[in-house]
Amino acid sequence: MKHRIIFATGNEGKMKEIRMILADLGMEILSMKEAKVRLEIEENGSTFGENAEIKAQAVWNITKDIVLADDSGLAVDYLNGEPGVYSARYMEGDSYEVKNRTIIERLKDAKEEERTARFVCAIAAVLPDGSVLHTEECVEGLIAHEPAGTNGFGYDPIFYLPEYGKTSAQIPLEKKNEISHRGKALEAMKLKLKEVLQGENQ
Ligand code: IMP
Repeated sequence: MKHRIIFATGNEGKMKEIRMILADLGMEILSMKEAKVRLEIEENGSTFGENAEIKAQAVWNITKDIVLADDSGLAVDYLNGEPGVYSARYMEGDSYEVKNRTIIERLKDAKEEERTARFVCAIAAVLPDGSVLHTEECVEGLIAHEPAGTNGFGYDPIFYLPEYGKTSAQIPLEKKNEISHRGKALEAMKLKLKEVLQGENQ
């Protein structure tokens, strides 16, 4: 059966990355806007996986297509996992420059080995029969002592990747997509979807 995929996001940057990664599924991939779904979805889950499922489910309730959604954020160990699922809403109203400076300041007494952090991305898919698939991946790093770099967005300037000797905002976007939490979670979801779709065609 021919399906289409709707990705529950309004973010065009994400859609570009998603289309690239899922291209070899050979399916039509639409954003919410392209699918003409207009919804304000309240992300009130307590984990990345729950939030991804809430978003995917809300769109699926309307379209019954294959609906994918993601939820991501930065978890800083010294801050007990903050900003975590609140990454997008942390210090709402302030610029990321201010948010990033604040996180660095909150780690001023942390020992070097206590600066560990990770970007996490969970993806949920609701399939036409209503069943749900989940994947979750992360990238490990350290909170930098100073923000650096202008690529990327959000917390990238303070997320230091020891194996590259650079922050996530200092590496080229293509490279970042290759190693990113979102890229890895999407690749894992693609494998799960392939299995399901192959099963359908047998
Ligand atoms: P959402 O997944 O679109 O709800 O947003 C997650 C939030 O986490 C973003 O607004 C950013 O603050 C942060 N975030 C997620 N992924 C990244 C990343 O790759 N770089 C920098 N910040 C990120």
